[in-house]
Amino acid sequence: MKTVSILYHSGNGHTQKLAEAVNLGVSSVSGITTNLISIDQNDIINGHYKNEEVFNKLDASDAIIFGSPTYMGNISAQFKAFADASVGSWFQQKWRDKLAAGFTVSGTPSGDKLSTLQYLNTLAMQHGMIWVSLGESPMQANGSNRLGSWIGVMAQAENDSPEVTPGKEDKYTAIQLGKRVAGLVLKIN
Ligand SMILES: Cc1cc2nc3c(=O)[nH]c(=O)nc-3n(C[C@H](O)[C@H](O)[C@H](O)COP(=O)(O)O)c2cc1C
Repeated sequence: MKTVSILYHSGNGHTQKLAEAVNLGVSSVSGITTNLISIDQNDIINGHYKNEEVFNKLDASDAIIFGSPTYMGNISAQFKAFADASVGSWFQQKWRDKLAAGFTVSGTPSGDKLSTLQYLNTLAMQHGMIWVSLGESPMQANGSNRLGSWIGVMAQAENDSPEVTPGKEDKYTAIQLGKRVAGLVLKIN
């Protein structure tokens, strides 16, 4: 059995909905178990993130899919606290050769989300991971990749509750990313 972890932060629940959709895609692939892990605000003390159990799970995973809301054109401060704490795994290159991918949500159609995904990619590169693109064509009837992003999933949360947005097209796109990462984990292992 191979393991895919989805590690995300969500301030107001929209990114959580997208993480759940990614998780649905991963779990739909047989032979894969998933860890859906949110960054808990209470694990950040004086700006420092600490949770040994989370890092043990990530270190033991075959792939990690990172997710953050876009705040002021980049990852959230909470996600950055987690990323900085990952230096412990980095020192020993514990994530080297694992697959990685990313997703983000912002309020506007663009919202400078690309910066967020590029940061998630950089984090993965620093860890020696192998980045998985989205691999979905845009402008399809099912709305997959409706915002036209290939580095990872971009979703939009308009000014409403997480029950309303991200919408079904963005969730479908997130499911596709989860399936792709899970399928590739089986293919390369
Ligand atoms: C501090 C803050 C900064 C934000 N910055 C951006 C931004 O740069 N671009 C954008 O389109 N939306 C921005 N938004 C909107 C959020 O990206 C959007 O509400 C998203 O759904 C938040 O995800 P969450 O509910 O998981 O926290 C911002 C929201 C907050 C609270």
